Amino acid sequence: MTTESPEAQVSEAQIAVHWREEEYVHPTEAFIAQANAADPAIFERFSEANFPDCFTEYADLLSWDEKWHTVLDTSNAPFWKWFVGGRLNASYNCVDRHLATSANKAALIWVPEPESVDPVAITYRDLYHRVNEFAALLRDFCGLKAGDRVTLHMPMVPELPVAMLACARLGVIHSQVFGGFSGNACGTRIADSGSRILITIDGYYRSGDLIDHKVKADEALEEARKQGQEADKVLVFRRHPGQYASATPMTEGRDFFVDEIIGKYRGAIVAPESMPAEAPLFLMYTSGTTGRPKGAQHSTGGYLAYVAGTSKYYQDIHPDDTYWCMADIGWITGHSYIVYGPLALGTTTVIFEGTPTYPDAGRPWRIAERLGVNIFHTSPTSIRMLRKVGPDEPAKYNYHFKHMTTVGEPIEPEVWRWYHEYVGKGEAVIVDTWWQTETGGFLGSSLPALKPMKPGSCGPAVIGIYPAIYDENGGQVPDGKAGNICIRNPWPGIMETVWGQPERFIDVYYRKYNKNPDSKDWHDWPYFAGDGAVRAPDGYYRILGRVDDVINVAGHRLGTKELESAALTVPEIAEAAAVPVIDDIRGRAVEMYVSLKPGYVASDEMAGKVTHAIEVEIGKIARPKNVWIVPDMPKTRSGKIMRRVIAAVSNFTDVGDVTTLANPEVVEGIRHHVQSVKVSKGETPRKLTEAEYEELKKFGEA
Ligand code: PRX
Repeated sequence: MTTESPEAQVSEAQIAVHWREEEYVHPTEAFIAQANAADPAIFERFSEANFPDCFTEYADLLSWDEKWHTVLDTSNAPFWKWFVGGRLNASYNCVDRHLATSANKAALIWVPEPESVDPVAITYRDLYHRVNEFAALLRDFCGLKAGDRVTLHMPMVPELPVAMLACARLGVIHSQVFGGFSGNACGTRIADSGSRILITIDGYYRSGDLIDHKVKADEALEEARKQGQEADKVLVFRRHPGQYASATPMTEGRDFFVDEIIGKYRGAIVAPESMPAEAPLFLMYTSGTTGRPKGAQHSTGGYLAYVAGTSKYYQDIHPDDTYWCMADIGWITGHSYIVYGPLALGTTTVIFEGTPTYPDAGRPWRIAERLGVNIFHTSPTSIRMLRKVGPDEPAKYNYHFKHMTTVGEPIEPEVWRWYHEYVGKGEAVIVDTWWQTETGGFLGSSLPALKPMKPGSCGPAVIGIYPAIYDENGGQVPDGKAGNICIRNPWPGIMETVWGQPERFIDVYYRKYNKNPDSKDWHDWPYFAGDGAVRAPDGYYRILGRVDDVINVAGHRLGTKELESAALTVPEIAEAAAVPVIDDIRGRAVEMYVSLKPGYVASDEMAGKVTHAIEVEIGKIARPKNVWIVPDMPKTRSGKIMRRVIAAVSNFTDVGDVTTLANPEVVEGIRHHVQSVKVSKGETPRKLTEAEYEELKKFGEA
């Protein structure tokens, strides 16, 4: 721990918003009448007394080649195994088994960004053929087999779910990297996963431009090679088949246009590989407290059962719904609740290439109207953005949602109410879903027909999840007080391990609250989620944000260490620190503080180099709001950069007691410089909520 006083030097007056429990909002009778879960007996079925067998209700939603003999195997705790002995194939479950009833129904509706181009419906039959043909290509042209890893670096085009399902058909583990990540970030993930094959595309549309994406493949392979992993083939889809959109040359013998080689596999049928339930289905990389990203390894049986079950009860998906989740498939939300959950249930899922506010803030509502979307799913950042630029747009369009979801960050009650009244037209229920890349599916949310909504709270724990809020020493925190939210039990959607780093899996998620490392009893292994939370007396949870050095920007996790390492690739930079700044649209933004090596002078150009380095190493999503070049960083006597102090400066809060720092004199200079520039740019401070204030106060102390 550091030596500075942990006590807040803040007056009550600085905290604008105190905990206030909002009133319940109830679902409509019409919603309840059609809901998948409308019988309160479900709570009993999933009570702790019925754990773990309760989850067979989810597994029974799937088609198994062989039934499991053990629901939960805890013998290698905390590496849980679900539905052991069972065998199944995820692609079969998401595609083949729907052919008998729904071959002509749209499985996917793809909405290209250019509005002049019609949406494309891909029926379950079309999807079946496309998945089979691509699986044949992966097997015969690339030599892939079950257990191999493949990296995908794809935007929101139908080729992405086709490629994922083709991998799943073969038992090949896919690792999709968000399309907005840089080539270097993709390369790191190729190396970490040991992929020999990269699947990418030449370009895609973003805010009106057809942007070059293939260029990142070359950077990715170069970076992977530096890290010791050679990739021998790059499969390049073309956004417009036959026309190449990238200026980057194709490398002979390594890069192949899919549209040129797929012809050979037309009509091919590939038998789905019958996989053990615990075989990995995919990796999804996420940020943590060290620079190396963590590959969350998700299983075939447990994961698919969990996303099918939660899609059915919490998303209220019926086969005849038209479901649209506006997230990107490159994140866990898209894997679970665009691809695997909805397709396992045989519904129609919409894939949108573009951004919500292009060409204007009416676009999402035009799409919803045209396609008859009745379930809508998005993030608080998108809701804030749409509200800011087009508050009256939803009313102009004749669509009707029965159900809406929000995910990824806390949503302010005021924003929630706009979503409910304007977007949902007062008709739709809202589920605020709290969960993580690691957890596969929802952890906290209201069961829409059975639990009222409460703006600002994600809701109670979802069925089969038993949380606890602990203090630093493992003591239970009383209702109304903040602590670390943990899940006391395993559940089928939990990641199996961190790919290639089993120790890290234990260290990050279990070490903190495990009482006996030799125990095989799940009760001894609470899962530490890394979020602060408060439970109200009614059992509803309010999530306060990360308690580690992770910044949640627009619902996406960025590790401070990754940001700082990226800044340090600039040769002139001596030290770097990343801090969160409260942002009214994106929740948090990143600000970088850097100091220069001797002999260099601060300039806009230097700040630009830092921004550029972050874009190259991580991607544009991580672009800092400001880069502050400071003569020296505030530090403790042991040399630790006091991120809490600079976070306070960036957010105009009290820097607290700095007298015990090694160099307290630098703080005032930094504060004066940063805040006067901010004020001159119109970045004026606003009052923080208690949760925001608490988060900043603790920042950098993990
Ligand atoms: O801090 C929590 C926040 O997002 C983190 C997980 O981020 P990621 O793994 O990228 O997954 C995002 C989509 C599931 C959590 O640790 N978070 C997620 N959902 C919510 C949330 N914070 C508050 N309310 C939510 N509904």
